[in-house]
Amino acid sequence: MEGLTRIAFLSSVFFSFLFICDAVDTITVNTSLADGNYVVSSGGTFEMGFFSPDNPDNSNNRFLGIWYKQISVRTVVWVANRDTPFNDSSGALKLTEKGNLILVNSTNDVVIWSSNSTSISTSPVVELLDSGNLVVRGMSDGNYTWQSFDNPTDTALPGMKMGKNFVTGVDRILCSWKSGNDPSRGEFTFFMDSHGYPQMFMKSGSTERFRSGPWNGESFSGSPGLKKNPIYTFQFMFNQEEVYYSFDLINPYVYSRLILSPDGILRRFSWNNKTQSWTNLVNAPADNCAFYGPCHGYGSCNIADSPICSCLDKFQPRDPKDWVSADWSNGCIRRTQLNCKSDGFVKYSNIKLPDTRKSWYNLSMSLKECRQMCMNNCSCMAYSNIDVRGQGSGCFLWFGDLMDITQLGGNDGQDIYIRMASSELGSSGLRGKILRACLASLGALLILCLILVSFTWKKKKDREKQLQVQLQQHQTREGSLGSSSRQFYTIENDKGELDLPLYDVATILKATNYFSPNNKIGEGGFGPVYKGVLKEGQEIAVKRLSKYSIQGDDEFMNEVILIAKLQHRNLVNLIGCCIHEEEKILIYEFMPNNSLDTYIFDNDQGRLLDWPMRFRIINGIARGLLYLHQDSRLRIIHRDLKAGNILLDVDMNPKISDFGMARSFGGNETEADTRRVVGTYGYMSPEYAVDGHFSVKSDVFSFGVLVLEIISGKKNRGFFHQDHHHNLLGHAWILHNEGLSLELIDAHLTQSCYLSEIIRSMHVALLCVQRNPEDRPSMSNVVLMLASEGALPRPKEPGFFTERNMFHEAETSSSKPTISSGNEFSFTAVEGR
Ligand SMILES: *[C@@H]1O[C@H](CO)[C@@H](O)[C@H](O)[C@H]1NC(C)=O
Ligand SMILES: *[C@@H]1O[C@H](CO)[C@@H](O)[C@H](O)[C@H]1NC(C)=O
Ligand SMILES: *[C@@H]1O[C@H](CO)[C@@H](O)[C@H](O)[C@H]1NC(C)=O
Ligand SMILES: *[C@@H]1O[C@H](CO)[C@@H](O)[C@H](O)[C@H]1NC(C)=O
Ligand SMILES: *[C@@H]1O[C@H](CO)[C@@H](O)[C@H](O)[C@H]1NC(C)=O
Ligand SMILES: *[C@@H]1O[C@H](CO)[C@@H](O)[C@H](O)[C@H]1NC(C)=O
Ligand SMILES: *[C@@H]1O[C@H](CO)[C@@H](O)[C@H](O)[C@H]1NC(C)=O
Ligand SMILES: *[C@@H]1O[C@H](CO)[C@@H](O)[C@H](O)[C@H]1NC(C)=O
Repeated sequence: MEGLTRIAFLSSVFFSFLFICDAVDTITVNTSLADGNYVVSSGGTFEMGFFSPDNPDNSNNRFLGIWYKQISVRTVVWVANRDTPFNDSSGALKLTEKGNLILVNSTNDVVIWSSNSTSISTSPVVELLDSGNLVVRGMSDGNYTWQSFDNPTDTALPGMKMGKNFVTGVDRILCSWKSGNDPSRGEFTFFMDSHGYPQMFMKSGSTERFRSGPWNGESFSGSPGLKKNPIYTFQFMFNQEEVYYSFDLINPYVYSRLILSPDGILRRFSWNNKTQSWTNLVNAPADNCAFYGPCHGYGSCNIADSPICSCLDKFQPRDPKDWVSADWSNGCIRRTQLNCKSDGFVKYSNIKLPDTRKSWYNLSMSLKECRQMCMNNCSCMAYSNIDVRGQGSGCFLWFGDLMDITQLGGNDGQDIYIRMASSELGSSGLRGKILRACLASLGALLILCLILVSFTWKKKKDREKQLQVQLQQHQTREGSLGSSSRQFYTIENDKGELDLPLYDVATILKATNYFSPNNKIGEGGFGPVYKGVLKEGQEIAVKRLSKYSIQGDDEFMNEVILIAKLQHRNLVNLIGCCIHEEEKILIYEFMPNNSLDTYIFDNDQGRLLDWPMRFRIINGIARGLLYLHQDSRLRIIHRDLKAGNILLDVDMNPKISDFGMARSFGGNETEADTRRVVGTYGYMSPEYAVDGHFSVKSDVFSFGVLVLEIISGKKNRGFFHQDHHHNLLGHAWILHNEGLSLELIDAHLTQSCYLSEIIRSMHVALLCVQRNPEDRPSMSNVVLMLASEGALPRPKEPGFFTERNMFHEAETSSSKPTISSGNEFSFTAVEGR
């Protein structure tokens, strides 16, 4: 009955205007939607009807489409007859009795377009859902026999599955428009490729253009743009029935869509209700390395390098002449031929896993079983885990050349183990592993290995001597280098001179049980950190700089020299270093209580930190920074201050760590510019993230963020509030202005009788995060303000207080350093030249 009433409305335009509150969202058999009439989804979000794109060449073309009803810019999300437009207003949408949707010329009933639905529904109806999905279903049952979400054009909406159903054969492929005002099929497609392990692919015609990488349990391998965010959640589903990727909105009143644009870029947009325009949040491919396989087989693409392609370590160009002229089409080959049985594997870290179309996989195998399987098959070239969560699980085996490898910064990529001739394994630094492998094998091999080991041992000694010379050159003073096994590297510091012990690699291997995974206590910006125990029983933290990390020799020396010279209660204490071939290792005092982020962002651990303790930590960090900025003889800007870099000793005293990015200054300088923006999203000041301009005030900004996080127990980045799109800074500022500061405070602290101290700290933090660097106080002022009770100035608007702002500013400043990825931990961006 209800259906019939609706037909009545539809058949008369006047009626539907009269009864606008009961807008039509369904069509039944024997009724049709004529050009000039519209169907509106039940919640009023989407509208369907005939439209003409703004195309001066074909202004008569009429298409049936669906668009957002509530927004001023017509944004079409689906088109039916994209390749067969009407050239007049004779078009009409009809539903056949079997449930087929057809577009006909209403004057002669010629069918122009059909949904070609093969399943039949009894007494079918067409309904436009509020999700933007146009569905055909039986009037009385809810199953869809056809839906536009299974037949997309160029847009993916929330709730739509991008992928395949193996049972029904449905394959949802996005295909770009030909141009911005021509919906006919363009050149680019985006779809799920289920050969080997499924990956999303973008193709230009039949040529690969972009590959998502396989799903690793959290994200697509090496898609740093796909991270937890306040706008949408995402999921990947892969079982015997289907494989798909989809996203859902966290706040259903936000409009967000993914579109394959006519220029072959997958773009995510969110509607900005204030500016009445779409904001482009993330794109794929995001940079030149994200295009498919620029460096070809065994080549590795690194966007931070120039040129971007190089061969993987232990590989060389197949055609060196072409390679040097930036023709990478022949790719790379092994330096040393494989020999099957005696081969081993070399680990490469922070990699976007190579193309998995020719891979074999098993979702339940362990890495050890995986290795064994690869070892036993001579044509297996590499293996890795599939799922990176927890200890890692699942097994990929690759056969044939490894294609489309990207070297990523930070912790974005995954580990892959590539088959390598045994003679290439010696210099990998993991002598312990090799030694064990040798013992397990035949006697002949053992002897061979012993020769190898003693050979590299000698090389190491030579190298150490060489290193000492280098270190000496670095310094004006002569070092006191002994010939004993314990050597020192003498550095001048504030209080005179200081001997920094140089440890040999054997000591470190022993102390960390050969870098046993059980000893791993964390992952810094540049590689894993292990706990170790020296022979004397002293506990140490060993930071092993990953060989493929972006921290080069310079940064390493930078950190060694900087930290060795710094001595302060609130800075972590370097007790030695070790350089051995490609291994660069820093040895710190061990901090039994881990880092600050493990407390403040954790509901259970957070309980352990009461306000006096937090206030002591805030003051300690402030004093540590003050020392860096002013009191040490060198002026130092840390550049990567964050909760993860604040370590806690036995007594919960804070110690600032991770000086890999720190910069020192001469006496009077206080600021500088860099092309290479390094740091952590959420903690970076706007002038640094956008312009690469940094000063002591950039550290003050990060300090302010940190204090707000300590007070609120929430992360600035990833912060979400249902009422607005601001991050923690914006939220704190709003609350402060409305006199509601108490609402920000971590639930564990609200009982405490220190509220005025908490609110004062929050006020100081807001002064630190002001947009304009000149407005921010210096650290000496911060220390004073935290300790005194005098009146504080009113904070101005903070920098980067909405996430959206940040994306936007970064995007519009193309001549400035660009931010290429949305990484939650750390990232590097390089000026595009
Ligand atoms: C549609 O019209 C045909 C012919 O007039 C009629 O036989 C049929 O019952 C109608 N179907 C519905 C669902 O009203
Ligand atoms: C629709 O049919 C009429 C009558 O046959 C014809 O004049 C008109 O060109 C047709 N329109 C289209 C778009 O085919
Ligand atoms: C519209 O299209 C029909 C069929 O394709 C064609 O016969 C007719 O001439 C066209 N009319 C105009 C005005 O182009
Ligand atoms: C329906 O089938 C016809 C004929 O096979 C084809 O030309 C048309 O493109 C199909 N329509 C859709 C929407 O797939
Ligand atoms: C609707 O789908 C459900 C689940 O797939 C199925 O059990 C049911 O029989 C279907 N109903 C009709 C009328 O096809
Ligand atoms: C956009 O703003 C208008 C008025 O400013 C408001 O009525 C509407 O609900 C807002 N829409 C969304 C999606 O927030
Ligand atoms: C995957 O590996 C597990 C454990 O080795 C094994 O039980 C299972 O049969 C394997 N599955 C396939 C499809 O090979
Ligand atoms: C090695 O793996 C390939 C690909 O899966 C397979 O075709 C071949 O039979 C395997 N060889 C051995 C010796 O298992």
